[in-house]
Amino acid sequence: MADDAPPPGIDARVPNPARMYNYFLGGKDNFAADREAAERVMQVAPEAPALARRNRAFLRRAVRHLVAEAGIRQFVDIGTGLPTEGSVHEVAHEMDPGVRVAYVDNDPVVLAHSRALLSGTAATTVTVQGDLRRPEEILAEPELRSVIDLAEPVAILLVAVVHFLSDDDKPTELVARLRESVAPGSHLVLSHVTDEERAGDAREGAAVYRQASSGITLRSREQIHELFDGFQLIEPGLVPLDDWRPDDENLLARQARRHLPTWFLCGVGHAL
Ligand SMILES: C[S@@+](CC[C@H](N)C(=O)[O-])C[C@H]1O[C@@H](n2cnc3c(N)ncnc32)[C@H](O)[C@@H]1O
Repeated sequence: MADDAPPPGIDARVPNPARMYNYFLGGKDNFAADREAAERVMQVAPEAPALARRNRAFLRRAVRHLVAEAGIRQFVDIGTGLPTEGSVHEVAHEMDPGVRVAYVDNDPVVLAHSRALLSGTAATTVTVQGDLRRPEEILAEPELRSVIDLAEPVAILLVAVVHFLSDDDKPTELVARLRESVAPGSHLVLSHVTDEERAGDAREGAAVYRQASSGITLRSREQIHELFDGFQLIEPGLVPLDDWRPDDENLLARQARRHLPTWFLCGVGHAL
């Protein structure tokens, strides 16, 4: 898409967080305005691409853990992002091809790409339009319900998405409403940007997003912890990305993390 004309209804002049993230990950699904904004973020946070990759690695480890250790067989991934290597269904299907996944995003570009990628996996995987600010609508979506059975435990993934909600959106209440709608034994997987370290730089990076189609709200460790209200955080709790159950794949990255600020906290909880 890099140099193509944008699809109808898409304003390529306004930087878009999903496409900026795609640029951080080395993808091609972005326009000049996205790349320029991403480069401005990298001026204050040169670590942004490394953090994006480590965020994806956390997501993969969490999915593997939930399938292998917690018996989870269905995932609702809200704020899916543009498809990239190691998507939820790819990771889960390596262990059990019967795992069902619903991808949910409010960005039409994300939805179009996701649907194209998923052709051929219709029995287990769907992509639906939905907004985290309206959780009941997401879970009532008929296409989602064609693969997700809310009477069974489900993992809700809110990976690098809640910081796109403002405090006025009342994110803790939104997560609680999701929790109340799912079966006992369900899990929450969440990562979120924080200004707990190098707060000035974090704020400058976040300022770039104010010119984008969606702003970022930085939150403290306590505020991110509150999002897990009603969930029991599993070991090791709320930690920097590389510290969540590291495996061989991220051992080297973990050693190198000493040079990275803690701009993301992540965790996995099970519903009480
Ligand atoms: C930074 S990407 C994260 C992608 C993926 N979860 C990951 O961590 O690799 C954030 C995604 O959240 C989506 N998003 C932002 N606000 C949202 C909302 N209110 N409801 C649903 N999706 C949203 C964006 O469109 C984007 O695709």
